[in-house]
Amino acid sequence: MGFGLLCFSSLSTFLLLSLSSWLHPVSGEGHHNVTENEKRAGSCNIFKGSWVFDESYPLYNSASCPFIDKGFDCQKNGRPDKMYLKYRWKPSHCDIPRFSSQDFLKKFRGKRILFVGDSLSRNQWQSLTCMIHSAVPEATYNLVRSGSLSVFTFPEYGLSIGYQRNRFLVDLKRQKKGLVLKLDSIKGQGDWKSIDMLIFNTYHWWNHKGKFQMWDYLQFRNKTFRDMDRLKAFKIALKTWSRWVDSNINPSKTKVIFQGISPIHVNGSEWNQPKGITCFRQSKPMEGSTYPRGTLTAVKTVKNVLHQMSKPVYLLDITLLSHLRVDGHPSIYTDNHLGKDCSHWCLAGVPDTWNQLLYAALVQKR
Ligand SMILES: *[C@@H]1O[C@H](CO)[C@@H](O)[C@H](O)[C@H]1NC(C)=O
Ligand SMILES: *[C@@H]1O[C@H](CO)[C@@H](O)[C@H](O)[C@H]1NC(C)=O
Ligand SMILES: *[C@@H]1O[C@H](CO)[C@@H](O)[C@H](O)[C@H]1NC(C)=O
Repeated sequence: MGFGLLCFSSLSTFLLLSLSSWLHPVSGEGHHNVTENEKRAGSCNIFKGSWVFDESYPLYNSASCPFIDKGFDCQKNGRPDKMYLKYRWKPSHCDIPRFSSQDFLKKFRGKRILFVGDSLSRNQWQSLTCMIHSAVPEATYNLVRSGSLSVFTFPEYGLSIGYQRNRFLVDLKRQKKGLVLKLDSIKGQGDWKSIDMLIFNTYHWWNHKGKFQMWDYLQFRNKTFRDMDRLKAFKIALKTWSRWVDSNINPSKTKVIFQGISPIHVNGSEWNQPKGITCFRQSKPMEGSTYPRGTLTAVKTVKNVLHQMSKPVYLLDITLLSHLRVDGHPSIYTDNHLGKDCSHWCLAGVPDTWNQLLYAALVQKR
């Protein structure tokens, strides 16, 4: 069956079958043991692989994406090197389909997609809209930003792709004593249930301390805390989110994706560089399929929580492939001249691959 002919409802059924078997595809990094999921999926984990040079990349020219955020447009911000644009993700045991904007537009005709999370969601959302716009530059588009919500639409295709800024997924409420982050409360923002594909992410803001810490207090089971172990707080919040999904999402209407954890590159020792090295002036990806430091503990937390869910959630497991891209960050070529940005990603760049893998997961055959 040509996937281009699938209508969304049969695509949904198909996704349920294929995505559920792809849900937790990764065993330990390094010493690989083929999991049951991988066996069923034909031994191919699309998140395990390496970066290969490809002259045909990037997938689009950032200069022809008029709505791109200044902070992500590294070339415009003066980044002198261009090699980082020329790498394609190659899974070890299979090939991923080339991203087809036409097919994507056809599949999601009349549908609504929403990225929910922090600025890494914004990074992926912008990448997706640039990828599609560059393939149909003559198609009308609208971009409406209001408060925490930005919605990009292709009216001729009835497709909307939104980004909702929501750094913690659980509720952040202003109370008399200050801003309280309620780890066991999730009212959401807007009507998530009516969306056709939700792509969630949270992680980075849980780690911030000092002036970048967003809350004054954490609250859990009616107890208020000044602080607690950040990973523990993150886990409680993820569990809250997972319970919300399990009791509110109808999988035949709404696909749920978890974006996975996007790593930062501020400590060169992690990838065998001298002390003091960051993402600045890194011009090539790491070779091979392992990141010397290994993965982040929070990745295991995410996988554990997703494992215990009753509704299918597809993990876009982007951590390893992004860890290998020490060269992919804006560093000083951002709109924020106060520092080096080693957490977001240049566009064109790494988030385009996240979207290619999202697309691959949507069309992948069992
Ligand atoms: C791989 O799986 C087999 C069978 O379940 C087990 O005996 C073996 O110890 C595993 N190896 C690793 C490296 O996890
Ligand atoms: C928290 O307090 C409210 C109001 O005092 C109460 O109704 C609720 O049961 C409490 N929740 C927990 C988890 O203790
Ligand atoms: C940098 O990474 C190395 C290797 O993982 C680690 O030992 C060290 O503590 C890290 N330094 C900082 C400041 O986090």
